[in-house]
Amino acid sequence: MFSSTELAIKYLNYAWRASGRRGHGIHSPFVYEFVSEVLNDSRFFYPYAEIEKLRTTLERDLRMPESEDFGAGSSLKNISGKTVADVARRALSTQKFGRLLFRIVNHYQPVNLMELGTSLGISTAYMASANPACSLVSLEGSKSIAQIAAENFKKLGLKNIWQVVGNFDDTLKNLIKQSPPLDLVFLDGNHRKEPVLNYFHQFLEKRSVSSMFIFHDIHWSREMEAAWRMIRDHPEVMVSIDLFSAGFIFFRENFRVKQHFIIRF
Ligand SMILES: C[S@@+](CC[C@H](N)C(=O)[O-])C[C@H]1O[C@@H](n2cnc3c(N)ncnc32)[C@H](O)[C@@H]1O
Repeated sequence: MFSSTELAIKYLNYAWRASGRRGHGIHSPFVYEFVSEVLNDSRFFYPYAEIEKLRTTLERDLRMPESEDFGAGSSLKNISGKTVADVARRALSTQKFGRLLFRIVNHYQPVNLMELGTSLGISTAYMASANPACSLVSLEGSKSIAQIAAENFKKLGLKNIWQVVGNFDDTLKNLIKQSPPLDLVFLDGNHRKEPVLNYFHQFLEKRSVSSMFIFHDIHWSREMEAAWRMIRDHPEVMVSIDLFSAGFIFFRENFRVKQHFIIRF
């Protein structure tokens, strides 16, 4: 993981190179629409309030989830000794990013979604509440954390989330085999180069021309940046967008020319 100074320098470099949020100079109609209708949509949607109220409760929750060891190098070890409040304050999507996930689902209306890394269910809740008709499969390795997420989905009245508990290495392969083509994939767990590339290659099997894959924390570490570069440069990826906190990829064949955008968020 980069130090806060390294991250600040990286952020300044990104902000310097990024296109403004008005979309000037973006010639791709698809990306222009993404910027003007999704990124810049400042409307307030009513599920935001309930999800953020729940986040506030979690930030005060002093329960201690059981830590589970998934073997050498597993990023699951890092909840050991932490309270729910610690996890809620440090490991979840921000309000700004959660709202963006909501707007993406609200705008594109994906039907089949998969998320790697449920944690306490905040990002899951943002996506699932944007389209009650969608089906969101969310994977989490920690049983006790997944249990708290399940309570949260119940509190929010969300019935379109299917939780799968276990190490991605054990659960993902079969799930992908049985899954219909995926309209949206959100990868937010196990932020290391090889696992991320491995998950990406598995998800490629279920991509359609209109799929969107979202990779969280692409500038979080050298490994994540290396993985993001390889994903962006993959021949099947036609458009990629770097918002600093996350990278987005699209496969639409009518894009013809491969393009990469860095956009201020
Ligand atoms: C950054 S958190 C997810 C945050 C959540 N998406 C949100 O924004 O609200 C990452 C989650 O992935 C889980 N995770 C990490 N590596 C995993 C693995 N190999 N198998 C299963 N779960 C894993 C962790 O337990 C953690 O809860």
